[in-house]
Formats: sequence, structure tokens, C-alpha cells
Amino acid sequence: MPTDREHLIRCLPKVELHLHIEGTLEPEMMFSLAGKHGAKLPYASVEAVRKAYAFHDLQSFLDLYYAGCDVLRDRRDFYALAMAYFTRAHADRVVHAELFFDPQTHTARGIPMEVVFAGLRDAMDDAHRRYGITSDLILCFLRHLSEEDALATLDAALPFRSELTGVGLDSGEKGNPPSKFQRVFAKARSLGLRAVAHAGEEGPAGYITEALDLLHVERIDHGVRCDEDPALVERLVRERIPLTVCPLSNLKLCVVKDLKQHNFAKLLRKGVAVTINSDDPAYFGGYIGENYRAAATALELTHAELVTVAENAARASFMPATAKTSLLSTIRTEAARA
Ligand code: HPA
Ligand code: ZN
Repeated sequence: MPTDREHLIRCLPKVELHLHIEGTLEPEMMFSLAGKHGAKLPYASVEAVRKAYAFHDLQSFLDLYYAGCDVLRDRRDFYALAMAYFTRAHADRVVHAELFFDPQTHTARGIPMEVVFAGLRDAMDDAHRRYGITSDLILCFLRHLSEEDALATLDAALPFRSELTGVGLDSGEKGNPPSKFQRVFAKARSLGLRAVAHAGEEGPAGYITEALDLLHVERIDHGVRCDEDPALVERLVRERIPLTVCPLSNLKLCVVKDLKQHNFAKLLRKGVAVTINSDDPAYFGGYIGENYRAAATALELTHAELVTVAENAARASFMPATAKTSLLSTIRTEAARA
């Protein structure tokens, strides 16, 4: 990649909108936490873990991802996990991050909801103090479980309502359409929570339309299969609905065969508000900066396009309006200098 774009990517202030905090569990931390808790891992070494990260679809990843979560047990574990993420994010010039977390994965193992919230909150506070990074929490419902389970999870999170910005929907998409979660999203929105959902990663374009019309989400996570429905793409442009795209995730989970064939640039050039994010960086081989670099190289993104992507993320965020305006101005200043 030309050095000017490399330099721009390093300098651009970034907003991360699609990041599962459990997906930042690096093998080294998995081993150290397993040691701390006397937990057995099905791997002999860190290298063996990395070798096991050869996925052929979303489910083959999710099986390892949920198993890895077993080492996260106390408040300090969640703190260490999130702090390690913020340290890497700061190195990539992330200034604001909206973190997904999966409470059902933890409560099902007997970890109390308050342990998860407290550990993440400690790290979010420290990241603000140390690095100036602002952050929000988005509680994701696991779509392979029932809506009743999601409703009970939302109820259990109500004592922590003030710590939450929104709700999301993740896990195995095929056969678990957004329509399954209409009531829980209606309830969350009635509580003033913002709404996003994974749709159109492995599932059809129709799931994106359902997420918009039935769950009333403000952003679509992934959404790359939207181009199977040209009218939907036109709608995304017209209604300025952001897509939180994760290039390295799409490559690792075989959503695309080759990054050169990714539709990210095509959607960007059509005017869709696409953004670049890292999804589960410990599993997919790169944090946000690496995702910007991989997409820019494979798709020959120009200087102006990279700036647009960073601006799209700032606009698509749930930051307060004044912070957003100020960030957009910083992005423009940095871009002009780079
Ligand atoms: N898709 C769905 N569920 C997930 C993902 C993803 O990319 N990462 C973590 N949970
Ligand atoms: Zn995701």
C-alpha cells in the first residue's frame, strides 16, 4: 500500500462500532486465566489454539468462541479482557468504541450479571482516564436461544440500565430471523435503549429488511448480503442506514473467498454508509487498523474514501451530537494533514 495511505490510516481518529468484547480474548490471556482458575483447556499450547482458528463458517467459529468464554469468571477477568482491548484500540487511534457483550454466555455458566457489568465498567472508566477513549455498552441477545430467554436477560439487566446504551442481536443467523425477537426489541426501545442487529452476514437480505422494519434498528451489523436486493441497497442509501462491516471476519468465516471480491468498495461508491470494524479480532487475525489496511489494499481505497469511512463511523455512532461534531472536525483536520 502507498505510504501516504498507510500514514493516513495510522493518523485517522477511529470509531469502532462492531466489536464483541469476548472476541478480543487472545490465546495468551485464555491460558493465563485458565491457569488462575484451574480450568482445563482443550489445547496444549497457545500455538495449538491459533492453529485451531481455521473456520469454514460462522458456526465453526462460534463453537470455539463460546468455549473460550469459560475462562472469564470474575470481575478482574472481565476488566483484564476489556483493558487489553482498549490498549490495542488506543494504539490504532480508536477514540470511541461501542462494545458488544453476550451476557447469556456468562449467566448460563453461573456468572452473575453484576460481575460482567462491573468488570467492563472498571475498564471503560480506566480507558477514559488513561487514553481518553469514550465507550458504550450494547447488550447482545443470542439469537439461537429463545425470545423468552432474551426477555429474561433484559429484565436481569434492568438494575444496570444506566450503564447500557443499546441492545443487539448476534450468534448463529441462519434459521434465527429478526422476527423471532420483535417483542424483546420493542421492550428495549420502550426503555430508551438504542437498537442494532447482526443481519445479512450469513443470512439472506430479507433478514436486513426484517431487522429494519420489525426491530427498528438504527444500524445493521455486517449487512454485506444487502446487494442481493438492489431495492434494499437503494433504501440503505436513501435512509442513510449504516452497515458495520468487518472485512477480516468476512474473510475468515468464508463470507467472501478473497478480500478483492468484497463488496465493501462497491457499496461505499454507491453511497451506502459503510464502516470498518474488527468483530472478534483475537480470532480473525487483526484489530481495527489491520482491517482498514486489509480493505484499503485489496480494494484500492483512495485517501478520500478512507476519510469517508472514518466519517461514516463517527456519524453512525451513538455519541452525543456535540462530541460527534467535534470528532468530525478532528477527522477532517487529521485527513488534511496526512
Ligand atoms: N456474527 C454473529 N455472532 C457473533 C459474531 C459474528 O460475527 N461474533 C460474535 N458473535
Ligand atoms: Zn459480530
